Order: sequence, then C-alpha cells, then structure tokens
Amino acid sequence: MQTMEKVEEMRAICLGLRQAGKAIGLVPTMGAYHEGHLSLIRESRKRDEVVIVSLFVNPIQFGPSEDYRGYPRDLEGDKAKASSLGVDYLFVPSPEAFYPKGFSTYVLVEGLSDKLCGASRPGHFRGVTTVVAKLFHLTMPNRAYFGQKDAQQAMIIGRMVADLNWDIELVILPIVREADELAMSSRNAYLSGQERQEAAVLFRALRWAEEAIRKGDREAQRIREGMSRMIASMPTARIDYVALVDAESLEGIEKVEGKVLLALAVRFGEARLIDNLVVTV
Ligand code: PAJ
Repeated sequence: MQTMEKVEEMRAICLGLRQAGKAIGLVPTMGAYHEGHLSLIRESRKRDEVVIVSLFVNPIQFGPSEDYRGYPRDLEGDKAKASSLGVDYLFVPSPEAFYPKGFSTYVLVEGLSDKLCGASRPGHFRGVTTVVAKLFHLTMPNRAYFGQKDAQQAMIIGRMVADLNWDIELVILPIVREADELAMSSRNAYLSGQERQEAAVLFRALRWAEEAIRKGDREAQRIREGMSRMIASMPTARIDYVALVDAESLEGIEKVEGKVLLALAVRFGEARLIDNLVVTV
C-alpha cells in the first residue's frame, strides 16, 4: 500500500490508472476505522482493480462548535488496517493542501441538505458534497462506496452524481452494528460506560417502530412519540430529532406508506449519534 499525501501526485497516479484502463474504487473516510469502514473497503477490494481509500477529517463539514479538533484520529492504526485489507493507495491530504488559502468554491445539493441532520448542522452537507466532489475529480473512480449508516449523506451524494453527470457507480452498503446493535461509529469512542449502555436504545426504538408498522400502525406521529419516549427514558439521552420521512424526498409524513426512512439523531454526553432503518409497506 502506498500512502499519498500530495494532491497532485494522487491525481497523476489516478490519471495514469484510468489511461491504462484500470477500474478504480474509491472509499472516502475520515479515519478511526471500525468494521463499518472496513466493510466498504473489503467490498471495493472484491470488485475493483485498484482500491483507493481517502482518509481526511474534513474541516468544512464541521460546525464552529463541533468536534473537528477532538475527532478521533489514529493514522498508524488505520494504515495497518487498510494495508491488511489490500488497499492500493491511502490518500491522506493535509487540510492546507486540500483547501489552500483563498478557497471559496462549494458544491451544494439544495433541499435535501436542509433536512434532518442538515437542520441541526447548518453547512454540514455542503462540506460533505464539496469534499466528495473534489475527491471524485482527483481520483476519477468508476465506483465509490458509502454506508447506509449515513443514509441522508448517501442520498445527497446520489443526487449530486446524477445532477453533475458523473459516470460513477455508487455502492451503498448496510449498517454494521456492535453486538448490542448500536451502529458502529468513530464517535462511539466518546461514550462513557453508562452512555454506551444507554445508546443501545436507539436501535431498540427503531425496531420497535418497525414492529408497530408491521402490526398495522400507520400513524407517523404516534410511532414517533413512542420512539421518543423510549429514548427519553434514558437519563443521558438528549434527542436532536426522531423522524419518519419519505425515503426519496426526506419530507416528513403523516401516514406510513411506501418506502419510509425512520431516522434519528440523539446526543449521549459528547457524542451525537445517528441511526436509521428503512421500512417498506
Ligand atoms: P466517516 O464517518 O469516516 O464514514 C466513512 C464511510 O463509512 C461513510 O460512507 C459512512 O456511511 C460509512 N460508515 C460509517 N459507519 C458505518 C457503519 N456502522 N456501517 C456501515 N458504514 C458505515 O462519512 C464520512 O466519513 C464523511 O462524511 C465523508 C463521506 C468521508 C466525507 O468527508
């Protein structure tokens, strides 16, 4: 595995690979690898001739009061994991190289970026789409891999790829969970023992809602309230949102029908955790 820091060198290598007819897989990440990240890398290794993993804690997707500085970083551990999975290139640009002085161009997917996490994290998705657009331009992938864990992010990137006519196949892979079904996240490292135990309520609430829908409940508000009650019964939980939305438009719904995304964001101490489940009726 080669670790690449220089933006222009990474681009030159990718251009050479494309000219040689090689199919490139790109896995964009912010590091602190867990099985969720590794599942994306493994899938790319299975499907693509060349696997590029980007590791970049992207400053422009963090709000001023968010955890950019304290975000978990483990470059040596991540290198070892990426290398053991057969990654060809680990792209680790510096923030100064990626956003040189005077940087002022952004990619914004309107509408979808304002909903759910976008409402509580203004500017977050603009930062995500901008960095992913830059990574797509630099690495010229045939396929790019994202996790359903960040369902809204995956949808917004899908919209961007369609709108900007990128010939890139997006592969969205299922949420990888801990033994108690807490969704794996780099931010789980922030949780105290008690918070970690309580956080398992998130998936229990999603599953309870799925079961209520399966049994015939179609009232979005009642289901939302039931989930919120379960979560709020945990002493350290502070709900950001609990939502039932149309899985295509992310618009709130009153009646459960068609494909519905159950999505939530809840703070436990320092950690803001998200999870989701798609239900089709
Ligand atoms: P990061 O949080 O590091 O996640 C990188 C990729 O791993 C994302 O596509 C995310 O959805 C996926 N992922 C995270 N946890 C997962 C889990 N438990 N199961 C399956 N997949 C999981 O998401 C980002 O970084 C950034 O926003 C990025 C796209 C890299 C842009 O900066």
